[in-house]
Amino acid sequence: MTHSVRHGPRIVSTWSFSARGNAVAWDLLVAGGESIDAVERCCAVIDAAPDVDSVGYGGLPDASGRVSLDGCIMLSPARCGAACALRTHLHPVSVARQVMERTPHVMLVGSDADDFADQAGLARAELLAQAAHAAWESWRRAPHDVDQSRDSGAARLRPRDGGSADDGRLFQTDSDATGEARWKHHDTIGTLAIDARGVFAGACSTSGMPFKVPGRVGDSPIIGHGLYVAPGVGGATATGTGELVMGVCGSFLAVELLRQGRTPEEASVAVLERIRDSYDLKPHHQVAIIVMRADGAWASAALRPGFLAAARDDSGDHLRPPHAVLLPDTVSTA
Ligand code: GLY
Repeated sequence: MTHSVRHGPRIVSTWSFSARGNAVAWDLLVAGGESIDAVERCCAVIDAAPDVDSVGYGGLPDASGRVSLDGCIMLSPARCGAACALRTHLHPVSVARQVMERTPHVMLVGSDADDFADQAGLARAELLAQAAHAAWESWRRAPHDVDQSRDSGAARLRPRDGGSADDGRLFQTDSDATGEARWKHHDTIGTLAIDARGVFAGACSTSGMPFKVPGRVGDSPIIGHGLYVAPGVGGATATGTGELVMGVCGSFLAVELLRQGRTPEEASVAVLERIRDSYDLKPHHQVAIIVMRADGAWASAALRPGFLAAARDDSGDHLRPPHAVLLPDTVSTA
């Protein structure tokens, strides 16, 4: 069932670690701030967290041991921006916002995007946390696919709702409290917010697939794939194996289905059915999508168990499991 229509601000983001970003964004929203600032702020909090190993400073590096970051931001088809393969700036959504606000373009990539960020006055930063470097050292001794994605916050989820969870590790989890099989994980903060004026915005930030081929960019910074927002209709953001989302234009598809009158739950399930039916899925693959209508009603769906959405509105702070999970649990030993 879709979470209900809600008047007033609301922010919903991927994974339990996002609850920390939502909290900061929520303060801004209840003070009358704009959704575009809220989603940027939410991602920036997670970018800076050393214990979130799929985004920003804590994110795992590529196969060469270097981190590269991707992100985008969107208010509408006419107002969006993206930055890919940043190697010297920690907040891809902030670079993306500068692209949106200062240039006639939508996307900048690579060292030129870093140079642009310098010129826009954004500070350079170290991107590789010590733990992420150690994980790469160990991966390169025995390279393997990295599984995606069970949220370790799930172990603390109470029936019906759940409280805040703040363990940001998706890739490198300890065995969890319920004794569930250990998965190693992947992914991205995607966030959708509506402010008190009803303006809808979204943002997405990631370090991408762990140990990726250098130069690889996934769905997250690409408008229509990792994120899409259509004013008056709604928005969607995806997380998981970017290659699977990119083949079906996942976020754009979800919003088009909303436009055609599907509910957020129906739209999110339809995108994942399209992915399920389009690929030869492997046990390490995971995709989840959050779909929110312009009136604040939202839902999420995932390919496999383990996804959580973090939601904040005037009813409080919630961790929500997906409304639908298409495939059974699959344990990989990788
Ligand atoms: N969904 C993030 C990525 O594949 O890069």
